[in-house]
Amino acid sequence: MRFRLCLLMLIVFLAVACQPAADPKSNEMQKTNESSAEKRDVHSYGNPEQVRVKHVDLNLQIQFDRKVMLGSVRLKLERLDKAARQLKLDTRGLKITNNISALDAAGKAEKLRFTLGLPDKILGAPLTIELPAYDCDVSIEYETAPDASGLQWLAPAQTAGKKQPYMFTQSESIHARSWIPLQDSPAVRVTYSARIHTPKELQAVMSAEVSPLGPSGVTASGYHFKVFEMKQAIPPYLIALAVGDIAFKPLSNRTGVYAEPATLDKAAKELEDTEKMVAATEKLYGPYRWGRYDILVLPPSFPYGGMENPRLTFATPTILAGDKSLVSLIAHELAHSWSGNLVTNATWRDFWLNEGFTTYLERRIIEALYGRERAEMEAVLGRQTLERSLAEADDRDEILHIDLTGRDPDDGSTEVPYEKGALLLRQMEETFGRARFDDFLKGYFDHFAFQSITTADFVTYLKKNLLDAEPQLAAKIPLDEWLYKPGLPASAPQPKSDAFALIETQANEWLQGKRPAAQLPVKDWATQQWLHFLRFLPPQLSKTQLEELDRAFKLTQSGNAEIAHIWLLIAIRNNYTAADARLAAYLKSIGRQKLIRPLYEELVKTPTGRARAMQIYKEARSGYHPIAVTAVDKIVQWPGAR
Ligand code: BES
Ligand code: ZN
Repeated sequence: MRFRLCLLMLIVFLAVACQPAADPKSNEMQKTNESSAEKRDVHSYGNPEQVRVKHVDLNLQIQFDRKVMLGSVRLKLERLDKAARQLKLDTRGLKITNNISALDAAGKAEKLRFTLGLPDKILGAPLTIELPAYDCDVSIEYETAPDASGLQWLAPAQTAGKKQPYMFTQSESIHARSWIPLQDSPAVRVTYSARIHTPKELQAVMSAEVSPLGPSGVTASGYHFKVFEMKQAIPPYLIALAVGDIAFKPLSNRTGVYAEPATLDKAAKELEDTEKMVAATEKLYGPYRWGRYDILVLPPSFPYGGMENPRLTFATPTILAGDKSLVSLIAHELAHSWSGNLVTNATWRDFWLNEGFTTYLERRIIEALYGRERAEMEAVLGRQTLERSLAEADDRDEILHIDLTGRDPDDGSTEVPYEKGALLLRQMEETFGRARFDDFLKGYFDHFAFQSITTADFVTYLKKNLLDAEPQLAAKIPLDEWLYKPGLPASAPQPKSDAFALIETQANEWLQGKRPAAQLPVKDWATQQWLHFLRFLPPQLSKTQLEELDRAFKLTQSGNAEIAHIWLLIAIRNNYTAADARLAAYLKSIGRQKLIRPLYEELVKTPTGRARAMQIYKEARSGYHPIAVTAVDKIVQWPGAR
């Protein structure tokens, strides 16, 4: 495998190195003079330097009985290299069902020759299409695989309503290619349109506008269709679709919630501050440029907390705690409308540009809405999780500008790009002052709006617009160490929270037997303080202590998914069997990786725990998303895991 990948990289490298000099008008090339190696996306077979996909037009039927999407895509191209006669695309598990054809301006079709290469485990299979000399669109008829890595198909029993099936896409990092043949690189921005045919009881939603041009209508045998349009150029990992029994409730004139009818009211209540968040972010970083901001609350198997699909954030229902205490996730996904969707990482090694900036913005939004104390508590929790993961990670995974060659880019999604990235931005804020840094960020979003940039592009801009004017201040920021070295610089900011100091005092009083649990002033505790309390407890607790906590606070039954998560970790570690049933139920009902993976990791540390993990996973596995299955398979060493 490794050999094949190396060979492939060599071929790609030669292809890039040997191509004629780039068209000087291409602003992609003009932007910086950095080496092409820096910009090259090792996770795509595409050849956008030669022939670039500019628009994706989908026409897909969603077939729940077969678990496939069937239809066609029409790609509009830009011929940057006039001599190039091949279009190279990414695919994974796609079946080309019929012709691939060229369509010229007059609508005349011509069949094209193509080859679908051998699949690589990480990258999928390259699709090479022989192009004619004339300008044309390319149309591909295809169908997805039932086990497509970017799709999850849910049976009615896995939904809140229990009556209708549900399906959704998750394209980040490189899963768009499992449902659309395209150049699946974040540097290749496309506009898109789609005609989606679904069973007529179900509704489709996308990361796009419902097109006023294409009226929805009924088609063949029990299907109807809806037409969507995304007019702003986005990276392919932001193309998204969900289909199910989905209802809508407005929150303001430009924000709203989609969810299954059974979940809709609860979701709308929890997310009622959404408009305030959008307004607060605009005040900090300039206008929200995507029109509407809606949130889709998915069934609990959704493998992430949230996904920043433009105009329509996808979110896990585990944020519905009943008291708005977990809505920083919405602040996070909303912030991506600036950091990520507007200014995008050009390759997956620049992922920290998406997530580090977004984590920093998220805390600023939380501060604007709920105050400094809440934002600081979350920053402290963030630094704690970062330190824990740094203690275990390989050096190479601690580097912001991470080398992911030969690896699945999903592996790069650790605490490092998020929390280390956010600390770097915080250090710049503290060094240059908030007013200056806010101005800088606003200018950065404007300057690179609708572009995909590398770490080197950012560094060039940062030097020119912030650092170079103030060498004395700049000297306080060890930029190279932040970006290219493992670990944290000694000068990294250390967020502090008085609200947490109080919790530590109270926790110690309980631990030292000075105060029974029932007399802790928990009614004043915020969720973040609960999380800190539970993390602050020593790893080993006695059965009596666990029983006392559980009796006083009903932790095993907590309806807050984050609190329950830490409590269950403690329960596993201390063999607290009273939580066994809850643990099994939790793992079988939730598919969000951040909440389930650490529990499996804790279980497999002992032989009996391992046996339990297997027993639970055997039942839970079919309910998890393919991305979560890949991850948990590795943890429990599921037979046949890659
Ligand atoms: N874009 C990410 C989700 C993602 C990352 C999907 C990498 C696929 C590959 C999203 O914005 C995110 O960061 N979600 C977090 C929540 C956030 C509050 C930290 C999550 O899902 O836990
Ligand atoms: Zn994110």
